[in-house]
Amino acid sequence: MIKADVLLGLQWGDEGKGKIVDVLTPKYDIIARFQGGPNAGHTLEFNGIKHVLHTIPSGIFHPTALNVIGNGVVIDPVIFKKEIDALTALGVDFAKKLVISKRAHLILPTHRLIDAASEAAKGKDKIGSTLKGIGPTYMDKTGRNGLRVGDIESPNFKDKYNALVEKHKQILDFHKYEYNLAELEPAWFAAIEELKNLKFIDTEHFINDAIKKGQKILAEGAQGSLLDIDFGSYPFVTSSNTICAGACNGLGIAPNRIGNVIGIFKAYCTRVGSGPFPTELDNEVGEKIRQIGREFGATTGRARRCGWLDIPALKYAIAINGVTELMMMKADVLSDFDTLEVCTHYIHKGEKIDYLPFSIDPADVTPVYETVKGWAEDLTKMTSKDALPQTLIDYVKYIEKLVEVPISIVSIGPDRTQTIFM
Ligand code: GDP
Ligand code: IMO
Ligand code: MG
Repeated sequence: MIKADVLLGLQWGDEGKGKIVDVLTPKYDIIARFQGGPNAGHTLEFNGIKHVLHTIPSGIFHPTALNVIGNGVVIDPVIFKKEIDALTALGVDFAKKLVISKRAHLILPTHRLIDAASEAAKGKDKIGSTLKGIGPTYMDKTGRNGLRVGDIESPNFKDKYNALVEKHKQILDFHKYEYNLAELEPAWFAAIEELKNLKFIDTEHFINDAIKKGQKILAEGAQGSLLDIDFGSYPFVTSSNTICAGACNGLGIAPNRIGNVIGIFKAYCTRVGSGPFPTELDNEVGEKIRQIGREFGATTGRARRCGWLDIPALKYAIAINGVTELMMMKADVLSDFDTLEVCTHYIHKGEKIDYLPFSIDPADVTPVYETVKGWAEDLTKMTSKDALPQTLIDYVKYIEKLVEVPISIVSIGPDRTQTIFM
């Protein structure tokens, strides 16, 4: 039986998932997003075009693949409309290539307001949310109050909307948050009208039929495993299951229909927003990685925090996701370092451990590093494994040995073509 493959980020997001989904799409019939929403920013580059996708799956630029937005995704119609308009301007015929689950939840303007009010109330303890309304929308989903894409077709959609907004107003009043909803609503309702041009379907039936027919499916994750609501560095996480199991929930794929699990990681680490980051380099080395790697958020433009590769965290993510195949991104960014540090263990309660404990706060873990040789060569124009410097090959082998999973792709630049198959 053909099974669905899952591609996801193993760190704190922004690993380069969008680029790899675009590279792999020709091998698949269907690309399906299973969770998250416009907090995601997935960057693709080809033929000199750079494009950032937020809600739409990263297979959209290929002629044949069908792109599915699953029930686990939350959609802001306004941001979605902007994405559609940008794609239309590039000549992408989305009507034939994109379908949406009726069960996907809608982000209301008031969800965004509540996100902002809640972050403001947290003060210095704020999560560092992207302020896209993600947390409040998933809260309404689990609280059984949410509005779904399928509700748009209901004759009393407006009543349902108003009822939910009344609840939200109470929360906003509680926060003493000032807002002007009348300014936001016209664009939201206009975008809802545009959304109606797309096909709303029961994606769970569609996906399962496709599996039966032997079609090849790639489920595209957003965020990363260390931002998972259950297994991430809580409470500094997002509000969905970003791990492999999220693809089952977010698309209706049974666990025994999951095939390869492709884990994407950077050759170093980054994190945007608040929360613990054991290997963070809050110094000139971190700044050098940020500048060379252009580590600024694709969604919010915020500077990403940078640090060395964290093996205990990577092993944790590999275990929880059942990763069968790794892809290492941004190797080119480390070209200018004589030596690299790799965190192989933590000191936790006076003991040397190689797993991720309950808390990775600085008070609880101190990273232990091994130093390895760097490479000086410019990798960005290399076209095959044979061209790669031996020190980079050694770095790859060293990581493979530590984590016991093969690395099948090394990425050496943002463009589609800057991809080395190992
Ligand atoms: P995603 O959220 O996982 O899809 O990743 P983002 O798009 O948010 O961030 C990854 C950034 O790195 C984007 O700007 C990509 O264009 C860029 N990128 C991806 N792979 C590579 C690579 O191998 N080298 C370099 N230098 N940049 C890369
Ligand atoms: P992609 O798919 C990196 C982070 C935010 C914040 C926390 C919670 O591009 O990898 P939220 O808006 O979800 O309530 O924010 O999660 N975050 C991301 N960081 N990449 C992302 O997505 C992210 N989506 C959310 O910065 O710390
Ligand atoms: Mg991103």
